[in-house]
Amino acid sequence: MGLAVKRFVGELPVQAVYDIRTNILKKPMDIAVLRRKLPEIGQGHVLRFYESMDSSGRQNLIRQLQSLDFQNIADLVQTHVRIKPAIALPAGIEPVIPFPHTPDADRRQLYEDARKRGGEILAEGKVGAFLVAGGQGTRLGYEGPKGEYPITPVKNKPLFQVFAEQLLAHSRRAGRTIPWYIMTSDINDMQTRAFFHKHHFFGYEEESVFFFQQGMMPAFSMDGRIVLSEQDSLALSPDGHGGSLRALEKSGALADMRRRGVEHLSYFQVDNPLVYCIDQLFLGLHEITGSEMSSKTVPKANAMERVGNFVMGDGVLQVIEYSDLPESLATQTHPDGSLRFNAGSIAIHALRVSFIERLNEGGRLALPWHRAEKKVPCLDDRGQLVKPDKPNAVKLEQFVFDAIPLAKNAMVYSTERRDEFSPVKNAEGVDSPETCRRDQIRRGAKWLKDVGVEIPYRGKEPDAKIEISPLKAVVAEDLRGKTLPTKQVKAGGSVYIGE
Ligand code: UTP
Repeated sequence: MGLAVKRFVGELPVQAVYDIRTNILKKPMDIAVLRRKLPEIGQGHVLRFYESMDSSGRQNLIRQLQSLDFQNIADLVQTHVRIKPAIALPAGIEPVIPFPHTPDADRRQLYEDARKRGGEILAEGKVGAFLVAGGQGTRLGYEGPKGEYPITPVKNKPLFQVFAEQLLAHSRRAGRTIPWYIMTSDINDMQTRAFFHKHHFFGYEEESVFFFQQGMMPAFSMDGRIVLSEQDSLALSPDGHGGSLRALEKSGALADMRRRGVEHLSYFQVDNPLVYCIDQLFLGLHEITGSEMSSKTVPKANAMERVGNFVMGDGVLQVIEYSDLPESLATQTHPDGSLRFNAGSIAIHALRVSFIERLNEGGRLALPWHRAEKKVPCLDDRGQLVKPDKPNAVKLEQFVFDAIPLAKNAMVYSTERRDEFSPVKNAEGVDSPETCRRDQIRRGAKWLKDVGVEIPYRGKEPDAKIEISPLKAVVAEDLRGKTLPTKQVKAGGSVYIGE
């Protein structure tokens, strides 16, 4: 063992193979190249402990460095780390008028056609499901991928299972399995795959699930030096959900879609079990309107709610973050008191594959980077770990909604929060497992009530735990005409409506 390890210590052999799953470059740089290139971009210090590392430490560091785009890093240090880029708001910011949830008389036919078209593109195999699950989930604080988190009110099904069952139900309807692209990151990839295997993909066809990893970005000291978290490791974090649009290309997922004939992606995030992973009407509207990227919106809970705002900025549809929308605009109201800027983003989109390809043309994803100052534990010059008590580093991320202004015919469709949005972000309080379970129960109670089941209420809240399996119903209408195990839910009881 000792000998083998010893023999390996030294310059690493150049790996000739491109591993699409780890995003390692086609022609990886060996240590000699890294020693030359890193100082050229002002990052030579990351190799300062290299000589004293064992072989696995060296391999780890080299693997991390190989996955970085050096020129991009050099550019970003100048434009986003050493200085804070000015946030350029459009000169004219106006509210957006989304497609309404319920069509008016003029649009009734359009919605009917769209629903039908949505069904057709699903049956033709033109739609893929796209789950982004590469985030760190720091606010929730769960050890492990967030998708493992048990979230349903009765059966405690994990988030991943909720999506798998929905997609299974839609696949049955479409008469073919919907390809499912799942983005992970270096921090949770192995665990995510193992979880799916352990649970036999929750009944989903394994061959139709495509896991791939997003890119990682290093944190930088305020003066632009990459932060080391260990002697053999950079302080890396996922490059934001916008990075998904690059990772789709780099991983070969886009090529896979081309092979399968997938033309549209239904995009959703791992933290919202109320999401309709597939929505026939929304997908149909997206297709019929020729939109390259479509989005769902809900009315904001209040003027300053911490969600992105859909606006027309200089005539172009875009999302302005809650922190960037001037308060004077955010609080503007109509004469009836309702908010003028009321279109909150809930991170549900439909994207054309051809659009994602275009965004990647020229080898660099055409999305801006966002800068955030964070507390990042880092090594000092002697190799000792320092835990800062105030922000000491810059992290950079890309956001998926920044693609919207680049899309042709981008459209927004309005929906109801109680139907489709209750994310698990925090351990407690707002957007927590508790509020999410409550919202699942509220929705389940409403669906059952609509088909004549008696629901007990305590005040305004249903007084029972209620869960409906997606295999029984993915939307309220699915319960119509189906046999249900009960006509009356008992106060304080627990009801599971399974397949
Ligand atoms: P959030 O913005 O809530 O970030 O992600 P997060 O990392 O999961 O959680 P916090 O902020 O550390 O608490 C919204 C969605 O985008 C995905 C997440 O997995 C989640 O589905 N995401 C986020 C990625 O896939 N990659 C990223 O780099 C960031």
